[in-house]
Amino acid sequence: MKIAVLPGDGIGTEIVAEAVKVLRALGLKFEMEEALVGGTAYDAHGHPLPQSTLKLAQQADAILFGAVGDWKYDQLDRPLRPEQAILGLRKNLGLFANFRPAICYEQLVGASSLKPELVSGLDILIIRELTGDIYFGQPRGRRSAPDGAFAGAEEAFDTMRYTRPEIERIAHVAFQAARKRTKKVTSVDKANVLETFQLWKDVVTEVHAQYPDVELQHMYVDNAAMQLVKAPKSFDVIVTGNMFGDILSDEASMLTGSIGMLPSASLNSDNRGLYEPSHGSAPDIAGKGVANPLATILSAAMMLRFSLNQAEAADRIEAAVKKVLAQGLRTPDIYGEGTTRVGTREMGEAVVRALE
Ligand code: IPM
Ligand code: MG
Repeated sequence: MKIAVLPGDGIGTEIVAEAVKVLRALGLKFEMEEALVGGTAYDAHGHPLPQSTLKLAQQADAILFGAVGDWKYDQLDRPLRPEQAILGLRKNLGLFANFRPAICYEQLVGASSLKPELVSGLDILIIRELTGDIYFGQPRGRRSAPDGAFAGAEEAFDTMRYTRPEIERIAHVAFQAARKRTKKVTSVDKANVLETFQLWKDVVTEVHAQYPDVELQHMYVDNAAMQLVKAPKSFDVIVTGNMFGDILSDEASMLTGSIGMLPSASLNSDNRGLYEPSHGSAPDIAGKGVANPLATILSAAMMLRFSLNQAEAADRIEAAVKKVLAQGLRTPDIYGEGTTRVGTREMGEAVVRALE
């Protein structure tokens, strides 16, 4: 089993180091190879996704990814910015299905910004389409506005688009995931305004005919954003497009106490995948040793389960995370009165000890 380890920028290196420790402590036979990605790759090789990194990612059985981005690269041309590395990996490897589970651990009920009764027991799964939508749609660019009230003025534009097969395959992923849970899917769209999401809604409805045992509900994205904080436990599986999924998954993370707790898996049609925390590179706290490594450690567990066929090892990691939370260990993002504040490394090492 070969794992490509791509720590990236900011807190990426610190949190991935802890996840690697946890993987090594399992006593399984992995080959792990590390490569630069994002801003650090740009600094070293002049490109955020160097050919050598892409090749390693293509050859590996799974990819463990940290995070990319830093304000200091904001002035670069878009194709050279760190974010292009993760977008390029998703596109190149066809990682169209992004799983972002939002689980509120019992010990962290008080860390959420919502009332405990709203989030206690929360377990929802956001399935975000990851290789289409306005993120990748062409054409895009800047020009002089060809028409309209401001004709001739500087204009920027992006294109939101989805094809039927792209919607079909993510709908299948969502219905199949729902069958392993409480059999309820909420498809989030903006069909009242956008053609793209009218097609989305029509296709999801058609695919649903093959899953009569699963309940399907459609919801506009604005309402979904509201319901997520009003009655989050009314959801089970949420399936949505790339941009709405980006926004709603950050919102959902706050229900769990901290975005530092949210893992993710991005899979292609062969179940090969990239595993990364749902949060970013947090340059403001990088190098301080305070970042929460649990989202990355939990992403490593998802990697074992989905791509490496090691469900038992995944269970061990998840149980160990619960154990350290029960021991009262907390990084600053989830700290609360009566608990013990620890740093990134102490948290990672506590998980390693809890594996035994
Ligand atoms: C995410 C991130 C990325 C995205 C950025 C870093 C390109 O916000 O994975 O949610 O927008 O998809
Ligand atoms: Mg995001």
